[in-house]
Amino acid sequence: MLVLGALVAFTGCNKSSETTSSNPSSSAAPQKTFTIGMSQCNLGEPWRVQMNADIAAAAAKHPELKVVFKDAQNDTLKQRSQVEEFVSSKVDVLIISPKEAQPLTEPVAAAMAAGVPVVVLDRRLLGTNYTCFIGADNKKIGKAAGEWIVKALGGKGNVVELMGLQTSTPGQDRHSGFQEGIAGSDIKVIFSADMKWLEPNARDEMDSALARFDKIDLVYGHNDPGAHGAYLAAQAAGREKQMKFVGIDALPQEGVAYVKQGILDATFQYPTGGAEAIDTALKILHGEPVPQETVLGTRRFDKDSVAQGGEELK
Ligand code: FRU
Repeated sequence: MLVLGALVAFTGCNKSSETTSSNPSSSAAPQKTFTIGMSQCNLGEPWRVQMNADIAAAAAKHPELKVVFKDAQNDTLKQRSQVEEFVSSKVDVLIISPKEAQPLTEPVAAAMAAGVPVVVLDRRLLGTNYTCFIGADNKKIGKAAGEWIVKALGGKGNVVELMGLQTSTPGQDRHSGFQEGIAGSDIKVIFSADMKWLEPNARDEMDSALARFDKIDLVYGHNDPGAHGAYLAAQAAGREKQMKFVGIDALPQEGVAYVKQGILDATFQYPTGGAEAIDTALKILHGEPVPQETVLGTRRFDKDSVAQGGEELK
């Protein structure tokens, strides 16, 4: 019940940017409770809705935890002030999935200085002034995407790269990893643009690429919404069958479904880390040591592997 209630709030029925999930204890014995503040950079993509749902579901198993969610609605300044609000309200642990590295580094440092332990999820900050970082290896994913693309195109071809926000670390790493993956091949990146993780931007950028280039063999989108936006643009131009589409995220209801439908040719899983963030927060609250870096794994889903649930990347 609780998780369903929380999901409804995340998917936009609730206009307020703050939601709470708590789990009233069934036993009568008084128990110390803890408040976790979760600063989410936006809830525009299904992947972030899933991250909050994973956090709420993991927290629901622990009656002593209450999670307060704030949605910065893709506004860095708003996320900075929401972090400050969490610190002044003295949350026991702060979890943050920051929009951009540089502008969120200082407010997190201030939280640490005020004695609030911080778990950084998915996107990184500058430096290492936090308690724990949890996320997948975006460079490795970008490299694997590049290697997959080299193979799929037989070593040569024209590629459009639609990049995630370049002031966020996954966007930077999915680009540099990709460069490594295609190094030494005859793959040419003929068009690249920062679509800032957003499907409508990806669609607009792809319209420009289609107008400029007659021969496009493949689109590499740094996330599945980006790859899907490019597909829609190509479809509107009647050209979607001339090229392949590759994305990242691989949510079952999004990227993996697109691969099954033949919209995407491949997608690489980017786990949300929501459950791991709650496990880590619990350890911190109980005074147990936590590693400063937790690297999550990834899986590749393409036509050959999607039916068996993808293939783990070593
Ligand atoms: C959602 C998202 C995901 C992507 C992640 C990177 O906002 O763009 O699609 O994998 O953020 O931080």
